[in-house]
Amino acid sequence: MGPGPSDVHPRVLRAMSTPLVGHLDPSFIDIMNEVQELMRYAFRTDNKWTIPVSGTGSASMEAAIGNLVEPGDTMLVPTNGYFGGRMESMAERAGGEVVHVDAPWGEPLDPADVQDAFDEHQPDVFGFVHAETSTGVKQPGVPELTSIAHDHDALVVADTVTSLGGVELEVDDWGIDVAYSGPQKCLSCPPGASPLTLNDRAMDKVLSREKSPRSWYLDLSLLEGYWGDDRSYHHTAPITNVYAIREALRLVAEEGIEERWARHRRVAGALKAGVEAMGLGLNPEDEYWLPSLNAVLVPDGVDAGAAIDYVLDHYDLEIAGGLGALAGDIFRVGCMGHSARPENVSFLLTALGEALEAQGADVDPEAGFAAMREQLRQ
Ligand SMILES: Cc1ncc(COP(=O)(O)O)c(C=O)c1O
Repeated sequence: MGPGPSDVHPRVLRAMSTPLVGHLDPSFIDIMNEVQELMRYAFRTDNKWTIPVSGTGSASMEAAIGNLVEPGDTMLVPTNGYFGGRMESMAERAGGEVVHVDAPWGEPLDPADVQDAFDEHQPDVFGFVHAETSTGVKQPGVPELTSIAHDHDALVVADTVTSLGGVELEVDDWGIDVAYSGPQKCLSCPPGASPLTLNDRAMDKVLSREKSPRSWYLDLSLLEGYWGDDRSYHHTAPITNVYAIREALRLVAEEGIEERWARHRRVAGALKAGVEAMGLGLNPEDEYWLPSLNAVLVPDGVDAGAAIDYVLDHYDLEIAGGLGALAGDIFRVGCMGHSARPENVSFLLTALGEALEAQGADVDPEAGFAAMREQLRQ
């Protein structure tokens, strides 16, 4: 129950033991088509350019930014968490100028600040993090942000690594031009093949670049040869990871994407109610609480690292601490995909309650259980 990877569903593990076929085998091409269709379903998009990028979430992130940002372009990135910083590094390496829209860690972006940043800098590309894993903040009001960007003729890139398959995400309806994600969070799939989707407008920019992107491996104009109509060799696809993500996405479709969002809200809602009734706070306001990543405030006088070690040593349960500006101030408790189950919440409350009591913190685990049960009954 850390910030990912989450527990992998047994069906996904089983799919990974399927014997290999070649990456151009007709049966594998059928699987590629199925993966792309299922991925469109999870992203809520009709984008033709919807593919799993070989590599972890950072590979799909770099494919997005490295192809969209050309030398001399300006990219607007957020400062409200760890992964906005990674966007910045990638945009700089792509030869872009970086400008910022500021918000403190633990707060979402304010549309008025985004508007001001656009008026001041006229960026070509705007990146934001829909579900910031470092702070537990969900960015609300996405359509407002994308319409500011489109009014300024910019393209929007959304980091959906910790939202895809767990938290409401509407790529087409919200006007997101490019979204990238990772498989190891709410899809409960091992890392290795990472979802990416681009609309035609974004792909037009990518295909009309003056200079090729610096990365050959992640050049979308070349990857298009394999994942587009031709199905010709670019690099050997990670066959086993493609089997895995296909099974993970089939599980999403079987459950239904809206039902899956509702399950995350319900189970993580029980976790939230439980920790709050135990006497702990959550860092973000309720309005931008992120069900898949719960940022629980560390009580005064508690050593966060020692509590995390206690939970791992005594319960074999993984949770994480804060990063950057929130280091030592929060526990990061994931509630993602196959891990988002009531029995895990109950286990977490037991383990965390005991770890905090062991340090003399004033917590009430029984009240936490009662609130959790009440929430699950609703
Ligand atoms: C919001 C966000 N963006 C990007 C990444 C990078 O993904 P990966 O570590 O799989 O390369 C992560 C990983 O945790 C993340 O949480």
